[in-house]
Amino acid sequence: MNDTSHAGGAASLDVSIASKDYHSASGWPLRALEDLRLTLPAGKAGAVVGPSGCGKTTLLRLIAGLDKDYVGRIALPEHGRLGMVFQEPRLLPWRSVIDNIRIAAPHAREEDIAALLDELGLAAHGSHFPRELSLGLARRVALARALAVKPDLLLLDEPLVSLDAALAEALREMIARLIDERRITTLIVTHDLGEAIALGDRIFLLSPRPARVVATIDVPTPRGQLGKEAAEKIEAQARAVYQGENSHQGKSSPR
Ligand SMILES: Nc1ncnc2c1ncn2[C@@H]1O[C@H](COP(=O)(O)OP(=O)(O)OP(=O)(O)O)[C@@H](O)[C@H]1O
Ligand SMILES: [Mg+2]
Repeated sequence: MNDTSHAGGAASLDVSIASKDYHSASGWPLRALEDLRLTLPAGKAGAVVGPSGCGKTTLLRLIAGLDKDYVGRIALPEHGRLGMVFQEPRLLPWRSVIDNIRIAAPHAREEDIAALLDELGLAAHGSHFPRELSLGLARRVALARALAVKPDLLLLDEPLVSLDAALAEALREMIARLIDERRITTLIVTHDLGEAIALGDRIFLLSPRPARVVATIDVPTPRGQLGKEAAEKIEAQARAVYQGENSHQGKSSPR
């Protein structure tokens, strides 16, 4: 029914999901994804944008191999080593920051972990416990933990949600720098178009549930050099896609 290939050094992340159904308590199947196709070249950052509840987390869980109950095919790039940052930071509460990272990446060298903490502004927090961290710090620890495994594919589920504007901006810049420097194939899920344009080389616009890709937009030039006007043009293009979709279906679009 499905096939996820982890090996073989594919040049891109290729997703082709015919359907993903959940089996609800009422007994009725709930279709989360239908005929969803996307291709992301290795080393590029893709941003998946879609309205609340459309199936974004479901898509990431399928790509991560956490849920194998779907019909379709997913091919992962390179050796398929995966780093994932969940919508909630999911740190082990009884372990320090540094132990949370060590447990996820037992083979990481101490100096690499120290460098990562430093790079993410966490050097002073290594011995802290998750309850001592703000949400912004906890997100950065979750990011450090995902990067510590030296992933070939990095999956980020709404990494900036619920942060205040200044913190979100700072973390967004940090993520943009990290993915540019490391050239890890990265898929970021968001419901914020501006965030997608700021972080993605390629933007995938999802429909309301059941999610499918209604448009793919390539963001030109290195991201950091994208002018305000060019960004606004892409945003207008994306909104036009959603308006067209909504007039067909009478459904909501992302912010
Ligand atoms: N384990 C599950 N069992 C049944 N239904 C589920 C399950 N997980 C998700 N769903 C349903 O599938 C749909 C898609 O959920 P999903 O979490 O993937 O959406 P999302 O786009 O990530 O939402 P959000 O924007 O709130 O993060 C929703 O209707 C959700 O209620
Ligand atoms: Mg989600």
